[in-house]
Amino acid sequence: MTGSFIVMDGVEGCGKSTQIKLLAEALRAENYEVTVTHEPGGTPVSERVRELLLDPQYPEMTSLTEVMLFCASRAQHCEQVIRPALQAGRMVVCDRFASATCAYQGYAGSLGLELVDSVNRIATGGLEPDLLFVLDLDPAVGLRRKFGDDEASGDRIEEKSLGFHRQVREGFLEYARLRPERSVVIDADANADDIHAAIIQCVSERLG
Ligand code: TMP
Repeated sequence: MTGSFIVMDGVEGCGKSTQIKLLAEALRAENYEVTVTHEPGGTPVSERVRELLLDPQYPEMTSLTEVMLFCASRAQHCEQVIRPALQAGRMVVCDRFASATCAYQGYAGSLGLELVDSVNRIATGGLEPDLLFVLDLDPAVGLRRKFGDDEASGDRIEEKSLGFHRQVREGFLEYARLRPERSVVIDADANADDIHAAIIQCVSERLG
């Protein structure tokens, strides 16, 4: 594969969308061909799976069912979008990936990292990001950024307790600790331009 695969992940409200937009603009300004995509979703099949996953109608959905569905969405996404883009030499910038399943379902959902890692490997065929940015933030700050005082406006996963989201944060930090050569933890409680500058510096140092 000739392109590079960059993933941006983190707790709710950590600022991924802003940073992905800024990074894609910066890469395009340097004449890179960039594919911006996201999970769950990124293909018609994966978007249908996303609707089911996030539908607040199903509070009974178990963590294991979630893993299977997130990974079904991911398998289709890898096959139909990410691998072809990398093979065409494009830079792929993806909002969430396998790291999110480890943090949300494996760590906070208590399934354990080993099980989630093995399902992730089947879904991705071993494809891993060249660089993962974990935008690290206190989830209380992130949830407030995202919803203000309106506690009832989230989707099925966003609506989980603050304790759950604190575990998710720990899950991301653990995931990055276990993969230091591919992961960078960025303090997301800074202003967007400073975060962007830190990201650009890492991309040029690590990917050249
Ligand atoms: P988004 O809000 O970043 O689009 O992500 C949708 C929700 O799905 C968000 O609450 C995080 C959650 N999620 C998981 O729980 N596991 C996963 O593997 C992924 C990709 C997302």
